[in-house]
Formats: sequence, C-alpha cells, structure tokens
Amino acid sequence: MRISIVSLFPGMFESVFNDSIIKRAMDSNLVTIDYYNFRDYSLDPHKKVDDTPFGGGAGMLLMCQPIIDCINDIKTDDSLVVLLTPSGIPFKESIAYDLSKVKHLILICGHYEGFDERVKSVVDMELSIGDYVLTGGEIPAMVIVDAVTRLIPGVINEESHLNDSFSDPLVLDYPNYTKPRDFRGMLVPEVLLSGDHKKIDEWRKSQADLKTREVRPDLKS
Ligand SMILES: C[S@@+](CC[C@H](N)C(=O)[O-])C[C@H]1O[C@@H](n2cnc3c(N)ncnc32)[C@H](O)[C@@H]1O
Repeated sequence: MRISIVSLFPGMFESVFNDSIIKRAMDSNLVTIDYYNFRDYSLDPHKKVDDTPFGGGAGMLLMCQPIIDCINDIKTDDSLVVLLTPSGIPFKESIAYDLSKVKHLILICGHYEGFDERVKSVVDMELSIGDYVLTGGEIPAMVIVDAVTRLIPGVINEESHLNDSFSDPLVLDYPNYTKPRDFRGMLVPEVLLSGDHKKIDEWRKSQADLKTREVRPDLKS
C-alpha cells in the first residue's frame, strides 16, 4: 500500500514513523509513505498558501490552488483522497479496515482556519478523528496511518487485531494479564490459569460485554 501525506509540515512525521511497527512495515515494503508539501505547488511568487476569508472573520484559510494542483499531480486511478477536518465523518476501526484495502491513500492535512471549500472538488472522503479541534491535520494523519497500517496483512499477527476493541464494532477488549500471577496482592483471575479454553473464551466474552456496557453504553444501544 502507498500512503501520500500532503502537508505544510512533513518534518513532523519523521520521528513518529521511524520507529516500531510502522518502520518495520515500511522496511518490509508492506507500506510506503511519501510526503508532498503543497507550498511547492503555489503559483504565488512568494509561495504563499493562505489568505484572509472572503466575508471577513478571524484567521487565515488555505487557498485551493496549491492543494488542488498538488492532488491532481499525485493522484492516480488507484487513489482515494481523504481530507482531514473536524467536520468530517468520525474515523473508526471499520473505516480503518476499509482504508487498509486501498492501493493509494492520500491524506490532506490542513492548518490555520482550514480550507477554502473548493478544495473539496478533488476529495473523495472527509474524516475527523474526534469532536475537538487540533492546530493541524498532521496528528490526525498520524492516527489514521497507524490505525490503517496495523491492519495491512502481514504487518502484525492477524489474531492480535481480531481480538482488539472495535474489531467487533460493538465490543471493547476484555481485561488482559501477564506475569506475575500475584503482584502485591493483586491476583490474576483463576479462570485464566485453568487451561480450560472454552471457559476462558466465555469469561473473556462476558468481561468484554460488561466493560462495554459500563464504559461505552452507546455502542450497545
Ligand atoms: C484549527 S483546524 C481548523 C478548524 C476549522 N476552522 C473548523 O472549525 O472546522 C486546522 C486543521 O487541523 C486539522 N484538524 C483539526 N482538528 C481535527 C480533527 N478533529 N480531525 C481531523 N482533522 C483535524 C484539519 O486539517 C484542519 O483543517
């Protein structure tokens, strides 16, 4: 899979993607990540990419020309173009799963007060990572790249994400324990030590259900 990140601040991604599982996925060519700074596409003599909003109001808006020209330059028939914006549809695991099947994912990161609406003429999907406003789309892009990359076959053991929270969209993960059995009086539940896999499965399902009802009743309604 190829992921192209369209951003004014590509340097922000270096340290995040140059470690751990994402780095391993890149080293094994399961994913390639490239960066485009849309300032390079500005036709303005000073490479300006933002301007004041028509009609007045605070802050600066990203102009549509540099972004539209950048997307038209990099997209192919295999591309899906995603705009990161707080007013997009909420990103969730089922969307990460769908995106992990795309050959070429393009993520557009905004900044300042956001985009000139006409940018949307080259966009296939608008995504938000939550009901809050960040200073830029770089952290949302990192969140999406991480969630999508771990679902690409071969990146991690498939069994480990089949049991994760949201792999069944209505259930959170069950409680997990590792050694030691007794940590300062806090004991591992007996059933997990029993070796009875049917009982362990039942316990995990009931605990996941209980936790989901307590923490996220909205998933169950
Ligand atoms: C300060 S925000 C702009 C907010 C915009 N004026 C609004 O109210 O929707 C700047 C950029 O950060 C990114 N961004 C901020 N919060 C986000 C979120 N929750 N999800 C996705 N992108 C976000 C977007 O790319 C956005 O264009």
